[in-house]
Amino acid sequence: MSNPKFPPGPKFLFPGSGLIKLLRDPISFLMKSVTKYGDLIHFKAGPRHVFFTNHPEQIKDILVTHQKNFIKGEALERTKQLLGEGLLTSEGELHLKQRRLIQPILHRQNIERYASIMVEYGVRIREAWRNASILDMSQEMARLTLLVVGKTLFNRDVDQEAKEVGEAMTTLVNAFRMMLLPISDLLEKLPLPGIHKALKARETLDKIIQKMIEERRKERHDSWDLLSLLLSAQENGEGMNDQQVRDEAMTLFLAGHETTANALTWTWYLLSQNPQAEAKLHQELKEVLGDRLPTYEDMEKLKYLYMVFSESMRLYPPAWAIGRRAIDECELGGYRVPRGSIVAMSPFVIHHSEKYYPDSWRFDPMRWTPEAQAQRPKFAYFPFGAGGRVCIGEHFAWMEEILLMATLAQKWKMRLAPGHPIGLQPGITLRPKYGMKMILEKR
Ligand code: HEM
Repeated sequence: MSNPKFPPGPKFLFPGSGLIKLLRDPISFLMKSVTKYGDLIHFKAGPRHVFFTNHPEQIKDILVTHQKNFIKGEALERTKQLLGEGLLTSEGELHLKQRRLIQPILHRQNIERYASIMVEYGVRIREAWRNASILDMSQEMARLTLLVVGKTLFNRDVDQEAKEVGEAMTTLVNAFRMMLLPISDLLEKLPLPGIHKALKARETLDKIIQKMIEERRKERHDSWDLLSLLLSAQENGEGMNDQQVRDEAMTLFLAGHETTANALTWTWYLLSQNPQAEAKLHQELKEVLGDRLPTYEDMEKLKYLYMVFSESMRLYPPAWAIGRRAIDECELGGYRVPRGSIVAMSPFVIHHSEKYYPDSWRFDPMRWTPEAQAQRPKFAYFPFGAGGRVCIGEHFAWMEEILLMATLAQKWKMRLAPGHPIGLQPGITLRPKYGMKMILEKR
């Protein structure tokens, strides 16, 4: 029998005050609440019941075991205004059909061929860098990953569009922060200039994507990229209209570069703060690669680099929160979850749990030896989500992180610019709030 009461959690004096706290600093709000009330908390956001779980088994229940009872829900309705109905935002039959269609293009075997493109773009950047110059690594990594996604998935060099896309992305990421909270109905009533700016940013991105699609239609060469796949699926009568082709393309264009850019940026920062780990990584690069460029086959040999990224995505998971809505009443941790409730979880919050990661703010790649990993519950770490909606680009992301970092760190290290502040900006991804000004040092 489930407990008829709700789990403990913050109570707000007047409706909407919880919402303000959430909007202002969602990560602190959630971390403090978990410390105070435990691993399953409940609060009201407007009229909605919200359950936040920080418990590995319950995370597994929602994302995997009982995934059929949860949808992404209406928080995504407004996201759809921006992203359209692509893989990230669609539900049910449409989602399943599109996922089956797109999966092969991002499958482990298919992405092998992207390795040389990734390395090539890494080389371009590492050769353009100048010793002792100061760069915002956040922008630099966003440009690099955008170029990679443009070339691998769209077979196009998007260097010229990179600046425009970068600005539009910043606007969108900021707007998402408000839209993904479980209170979209309330938000609609607030005068938010950010929403208007976000729609404009979408228009900009739309035009860029549309142009790519039109050009590809004219060129009509069959290649292995995403755009060719989407267009031939459309021609084979698989029921995708122009809008859907564009929405899928837009989804992968955005989801495919913003997250990896953040992972790379935070990793540069962590290495700059941890010279021992940095030296160990340099040693590995020397032993495995010497002076030659990395290849796909090298990836499994770069074991320490994998551990560095695992630890970096623990401390700064690019997708910092995941939310669902319960279709039917259900049970979570012995409590009754009313139909329509929001259930949420955060890789960031659980990745900082002292229970699973003692001294949890300390960067320590050795937490990722197979023995250390075996000591922890699997769902105490889920930077890519899990279950039927697990990140479709997970292998692509790992490959990109490993190959780009190996290529760049062979020749360069970074130092944080003196006095540069570090803060978190939890939007749709976890960006560094003040960017990441770093000084380039030739190795
Ligand atoms: C470090 C990099 C990345 C991280 C941390 C990340 C994280 C995530 C997470 C947590 C989800 C699940 C969200 C949920 O359950 O609500 C997700 C979904 C998704 N990701 Fe990623 N991602 C990364 C890179 C990529 C890349 C490179 C691509 C494309 C090339 C991509 C495309 C997608 C798509 C399309 C979905 C939706 C899948 C679906 O619902 O079926 N991601 N990602």
